[in-house]
Amino acid sequence: MNYDKYYKKCKKNYKGKIKDTDFYNNPVRVIPKTYFSEQYFSTIDEVSKKIKNYFDNLEDEEIMVYHNNIWEFEDDLNIISKELVSWLEENFYNCHLYVDKVYIYRTKQLEEREASYIWHYDNNPQELIKNIIYLNEVTELNSPFEFLTNEKGLGVLHETKRKGTRLWKSVEGRLDDLVNELISKGTHSPFKLTGPQGTTCGFSNDIIHRANPVIEGYRDVINIRVHPCINKPPHLLDPKWTTSREVSGVANKDPEITWEQLI
Ligand SMILES: [Fe+2]
Repeated sequence: MNYDKYYKKCKKNYKGKIKDTDFYNNPVRVIPKTYFSEQYFSTIDEVSKKIKNYFDNLEDEEIMVYHNNIWEFEDDLNIISKELVSWLEENFYNCHLYVDKVYIYRTKQLEEREASYIWHYDNNPQELIKNIIYLNEVTELNSPFEFLTNEKGLGVLHETKRKGTRLWKSVEGRLDDLVNELISKGTHSPFKLTGPQGTTCGFSNDIIHRANPVIEGYRDVINIRVHPCINKPPHLLDPKWTTSREVSGVANKDPEITWEQLI
């Protein structure tokens, strides 16, 4: 089964509030600040201090550095994910979700763009949404997340070669030439997401996007990836079904392998 078909099944089974959220045509959404509680922002503030301290004391030459133990923040991640997922279920997916991936990382200054700093799409099923949460204020100078928008100002979803068990191919996902062409035609324009600590943006991992190198300062983020599921999980994060860098970012090609099969 492919993910699009599985997602339809998940929606059918969902008993919560239903809106037509136009999932594929509006694949990037900044979550309104007013939705979140004070606890959401105070939790982010608390973890951001620990994470800043961790990265400040890390000797690493990589172009992006990752925290090696997300479980140190299990309680905080649960608080954050609970509010985030409840918004996503109602306003983005209209189905149950669980957290299948969490990354905590810091972007760097760079001489020349490479890897995620180049326009790309993740080439995973489009039905996986990544949620980037800024742990400190992000301006034009400290690595804003950037994505391509169309005439309507909406994010642009790229076709994927990883759709599920019926189609699963790796490809070169770099898109600099395509993006330059679309921008020069005037039909599309890039958008840089700036905002205060706690800014939260959900996006299909196949939108055309890139990270920007830091010019001044630093940028720490938590990235929470969610997966649709038929039944509501007992809790959102669990070492049985939530991983980080120790497991490849490529999804399982079978969408039906969700938290229930991983217990
Ligand atoms: Fe990416």
